Amino acid sequence: MRLIICGMGVVGQSFIKLLINSSDSLYKKYGIRPRVVACIDSNGMAFSQTGLDLEKLLSVKEKFRTVAKYSDEKPNFENYIENIDAEVFLELTPTNLISGEPGLSNIISALRTQKNVITVNKGPLALSFPSLMELSEYNNVMLRFSGTVGGGTPVLEFAKHCLKGDKITSFIGILNGTTNYILTKMSEGLTFEDALKVAKMKGYAEANVSLDVNGDDAAAKLVIMANWIMGYKVTIKDVYKRGITDIKLEDINEALKKRKYIKLIAMCDNRNLSVQPSIVSKDDPICVNGTLNAVTFKSEHSGDQTIIGKGAGGMETASSILRDLIEIKENFSMP
Ligand SMILES: NC(=O)c1ccc[n+]([C@@H]2O[C@H](COP(=O)([O-])OP(=O)(O)OC[C@H]3O[C@@H](n4cnc5c(N)ncnc54)[C@H](OP(=O)(O)O)[C@@H]3O)[C@@H](O)[C@H]2O)c1
Repeated sequence: MRLIICGMGVVGQSFIKLLINSSDSLYKKYGIRPRVVACIDSNGMAFSQTGLDLEKLLSVKEKFRTVAKYSDEKPNFENYIENIDAEVFLELTPTNLISGEPGLSNIISALRTQKNVITVNKGPLALSFPSLMELSEYNNVMLRFSGTVGGGTPVLEFAKHCLKGDKITSFIGILNGTTNYILTKMSEGLTFEDALKVAKMKGYAEANVSLDVNGDDAAAKLVIMANWIMGYKVTIKDVYKRGITDIKLEDINEALKKRKYIKLIAMCDNRNLSVQPSIVSKDDPICVNGTLNAVTFKSEHSGDQTIIGKGAGGMETASSILRDLIEIKENFSMP
């Protein structure tokens, strides 16, 4: 199975490490022998039609900060997605919720040239989920995105596969770990500004933290869930959204007096999509603290089911890519 990996940051490098560590078990258990034929970062590309040496790739990236130094030859970078033969394209570039780029064009090029796509980048899906899904179906390839919601926690698979046969009528949850961390710290007495500083120090905030605190990141995940789980055809414009920047310590303390917490809650109910700070009882299973995410699915026959887990992290998200890769392999017979 030949892979093109676009994006070699936290997630990309974790995925390469995971491939190195699990190559034997991947072959024994699933018959997958992944070969990374191209790897791209913002400065260039490493390419080998027979497969890159992954240990070397990691050390080149660490030493020179770009994969372009992998060899002295400069591979042809133009239209590389169309021109390189591969079965799977991995989209691991930064999330852009304004234009979706560069991820959106990358995914379109890959699908049009009949490559299966795995993306952890939410931007293209938040803006164009229905049309990208159509494009993948038209080209008879798969578009998978487990890591876009819940990091390594299989939120999408839980709803789609574990609750198979039942009808999910609504869901509610905490989809952004950074804001949950900030609100948790505020409930311990820190101001919003101080809590945000700690979140940044610990590396919990996205490069553009406004995506988190304004509710955009949670809204993007909500859109992905609504399309995939509920079958809606919606984009981020359909979400009513309010972030946490105007939450005061007094609001938090007032809630605490009643054994309640303020959380950034994403909800999909009766075709309404919203992300907003809401008061949650301490006993509610979605009332998790720190960077945890939690989602309760309400279904017709099995009642309420809650899934809780870490919502991000390089290795956790890389593990979701591996799950998608296995699913693709199971659907297509490929080398
Ligand atoms: N980190 C997490 O825990 C996590 C969890 C779930 C989802 N995600 C999503 O996963 C994606 C990647 O996250 P990350 O944490 O790995 O980000 P990151 O560390 O910032 O890495 C982004 C990578 O994309 C490369 N890149 C940027 N612009 C590019 C372009 N035009 N063409 C090719 N490569 C380009 C960067 O190149 P350089 O190396 O040259 O800068 C870098 O290698 C994001 O969309 C993020 O929202 C992340």
